[in-house]
Amino acid sequence: MIGLIGAMNVEVEALENMLEDRKETRIGMDVFVSGKLYGQETVLAVCGPGKINAALCAQSMILHFHPQWILNLGVAGSGEENVNIGDMVIATAAVEHDMDTSPIGDPVGYVSKIGLIEIPCDRQLREQLVRSAGKVPGLCVHEGIIATGDQFICRADVRKRIHDLFQAKAVEMEGAAVAHACYMHGVPCGVLRSISDHANGESEMDYPTFTKLAAAHSQQVVENVLKGAGA
Ligand code: ADE
Repeated sequence: MIGLIGAMNVEVEALENMLEDRKETRIGMDVFVSGKLYGQETVLAVCGPGKINAALCAQSMILHFHPQWILNLGVAGSGEENVNIGDMVIATAAVEHDMDTSPIGDPVGYVSKIGLIEIPCDRQLREQLVRSAGKVPGLCVHEGIIATGDQFICRADVRKRIHDLFQAKAVEMEGAAVAHACYMHGVPCGVLRSISDHANGESEMDYPTFTKLAAAHSQQVVENVLKGAGA
């Protein structure tokens, strides 16, 4: 079983429409749709925005469905100058940019208990994602840190601070939370993001315009991964 988590409907609806032998399972307020996707047993969920929604959904998915890996997919703001709208970022690791216990001596972003700033993504899955993204014509693919926090970034100075601290290539609101839940349960995890805006003063305008294109790119990559992973 493979697990897919998106924050919003638009990020997963095309994949959900392709599911065969669909079955719905409710756990609390999360709805998990399972079935066959391109020949692979898959469970898919829309977790809602933000770290807590994402972590709870990932944990429920892990405990109920025991997926062999989980991919968090969707859209993100660009984290640095050379990452543009329409590009794809595949995480080497994810960070919680709003985790901050620096007043008591920790580095910004340090997550106590798991003892990490950079929460690692599974290398094998990442390599599969990179190969699959390479098959999408004209798609520019970056690998690096994805920064997650409970805020929509739409100011150049905030984006710069996140980049200065973590060298983030993309900013979003769920990736590190899914990676955190997966890390705690020993489940391999990937984070895949299509860039929908520049996380600056124009974000409010760009986000709705480019989200559909960005979501379509993510879905194409997932299709390639699952087809490649076929028996
Ligand atoms: N998802 C898409 N764009 C984003 C932004 N600018 N900040 C946070 N999450 C996002």
